[in-house]
Amino acid sequence: MTGSLLSIRDLGVRFRLPQGEAVAVDGVSLDLAAGEVLGIVGESGSGKSQILYAMMGLLAANGRATGQVLFEGQDLLALPPDRLDRVRGDRLSMIFQDPMTSLNPYMRVGDQLAEGLIVHKGLSRTEARAEAVRMLDRVRIPDAAARARRYPHEFSGGMRQRVMIAMALLARPKLLLADEPTTALDVTIQAQVLDLMAELGRETGTAIILVTHDLGVVARLCDRVAVLYGGRVMEEAPAETLFDTPAHPYTRGLLAAMPRLETALTPRLGTIPGTPRSGGTVTGCPFVDRCEARLPVCSTDRPPLRDLTPGHRAACHLTGAAP
Ligand SMILES: Nc1ncnc2c1ncn2[C@@H]1O[C@H](COP(=O)(O)OP(=O)(O)O)[C@@H](O)[C@H]1O
Ligand SMILES: [Mg+2]
Repeated sequence: MTGSLLSIRDLGVRFRLPQGEAVAVDGVSLDLAAGEVLGIVGESGSGKSQILYAMMGLLAANGRATGQVLFEGQDLLALPPDRLDRVRGDRLSMIFQDPMTSLNPYMRVGDQLAEGLIVHKGLSRTEARAEAVRMLDRVRIPDAAARARRYPHEFSGGMRQRVMIAMALLARPKLLLADEPTTALDVTIQAQVLDLMAELGRETGTAIILVTHDLGVVARLCDRVAVLYGGRVMEEAPAETLFDTPAHPYTRGLLAAMPRLETALTPRLGTIPGTPRSGGTVTGCPFVDRCEARLPVCSTDRPPLRDLTPGHRAACHLTGAAP
């Protein structure tokens, strides 16, 4: 892909456990162009968060990442901690599910926002504070100048998540990683916050990886989607293509189980019979036990991620066969 901002190559994440090794991410390759919004969808435990944590150098102590994460041509997995620190919070930032994990409860919100600009962009305290207030205003925090002097606990959940978006976009990063950023919020607020994130991302030219289990969010906000299962990409396509012509039985199952867009405010991943496998390396397809279309080969051979049409890939021995 030309002009690739991010190129993830064969990313693996393994965890050491007393009983052996657990594979959380297994050979994931993804590309992202500048300004693009990529959705990563998948059930709980499919490895979505670990992809982002590996990129940020935030894996748990028993975890190890392999492969390459080329961001603006630099392999983040190979960067020494001090250089990775400089990339994070400047050209790369992340929004977590729970804003309280990234907000300092003892520091005024405005000062927390200003801090990053002072450290990463070399602004004076006065300039940084003014810029912080402008950003709070842009994420529609009412009376931003006064609010900037308040502490995180004085904000509602929705407001705190907006503060996180302001903080994440303040440095105008090239890439924003958002890990289910609104699941803690009530549904109407969720939609507002996500729309705002996408709108500001467009304004600042920031590419976004949006991790979600909500297909409605994907349909509304994402240019492209990767469907993750058992730590592997099962299918990847432009959002429209994925909804119109899903190729993988797993994706079809998700879509079939999804409430109609027009009748549900936030369609969530539906349920497919069975439970995902977890643990060690899977020989064949990780979805084989739950797949109604399985062939003998599915238990023995790993299906490669094949191009179906330009930009549309699926990892299924059946693709090319009748739907
Ligand atoms: N520190 C850890 N030690 C062992 N396994 C872990 C650890 N952290 C996460 N995992 C496992 O990695 C897998 C993927 O987790 P995760 O990426 O958090 O899933 P998702 O974000 O898609 O819900 C899960 O099976 C989870 O149990
Ligand atoms: Mg997660």
